[in-house]
Amino acid sequence: MINIQKAAVIGCGFVGSSIAYALMQKGTFSEIVLLDANQKKAEGEAMDISHGLPFAHAMDIYAGGYEDIRDASVIIITAGANQKPGESRLDLVQKNAKIMKSVIGEIKRVKCEGILLVVSNPVDILTYVALKESGFPPSRVIGSGTVLDTARLKYILSEKLKVDSRNVHAFIIGEHGDSELAAWSCANIYGIPLQEFARMKGYKSFAKEMDEIYHAVRDSAYEIIERKGATYYGIGMAAARIAESIVRDSHTVAPVSVLLNGEYGLSGLCLSIPAIVGNEGAEQVLEIAFSEEENEKLKKSAGELKTVLENIR
Ligand code: 2OP
Repeated sequence: MINIQKAAVIGCGFVGSSIAYALMQKGTFSEIVLLDANQKKAEGEAMDISHGLPFAHAMDIYAGGYEDIRDASVIIITAGANQKPGESRLDLVQKNAKIMKSVIGEIKRVKCEGILLVVSNPVDILTYVALKESGFPPSRVIGSGTVLDTARLKYILSEKLKVDSRNVHAFIIGEHGDSELAAWSCANIYGIPLQEFARMKGYKSFAKEMDEIYHAVRDSAYEIIERKGATYYGIGMAAARIAESIVRDSHTVAPVSVLLNGEYGLSGLCLSIPAIVGNEGAEQVLEIAFSEEENEKLKKSAGELKTVLENIR
């Protein structure tokens, strides 16, 4: 039986522990179990995070083993190596695909029935590996995808246009990585088309800014890794938000990494497209009328991911 109030986080590095920390602060779950290949690390993180409980919401957070995650409603997988300065997400693929296969083996052994939320990079490739290895229905295996890139896009747009980032509706699709693209044709501020809003803010044309903003979003992780060695707070908030949509069954539209099955003429891979996320995981992949140029870029992004998938050993 699934306990909807229980989450598991597999992998307690910077990313896994930041997700657990964000979830604790949000009070989304009443129980979070932390797993790590290094049990002591999981124990230390659980102790540290639980010392914040008097300032947040009552809940139980502890280090455990695979037997403890059987009834978790959301299983967040962050296990794997992370990028070093100068490395791309795709450089991690062979190492992390092996780790993902062994994690999924354990998840199957204990017969988990929850939703798998893959965060490890390269996330689109590893979401596909998790899906295939688990044999779960596609709706139950999602990747954090471009939810973080979308947050970065909203933030940078909000800074440029001096407007609350929560009023910005714009998103990134495709690979969570170098071939991602901004779906500019759908971008608006509080329902006002982006370029029109930019005009209201005194811009004659916003095209140059859009190009710069896209590059800033795409290269954010590189910029952060060069400065501090890793990224984790942003992804911590992004993954916690996805987990929240699942547990609250909020039918939230989010650009998660999902299996494509003919949508946009693509299939046999996972990448980010806005989908409706609730109790069942990715309940519906939305087919949006993107511009021709966006469709082309999306195909190109898919092509790059397919090449990587074909070369996994
Ligand atoms: C990020 O985008 C590295 O995927 C991680 O921050």
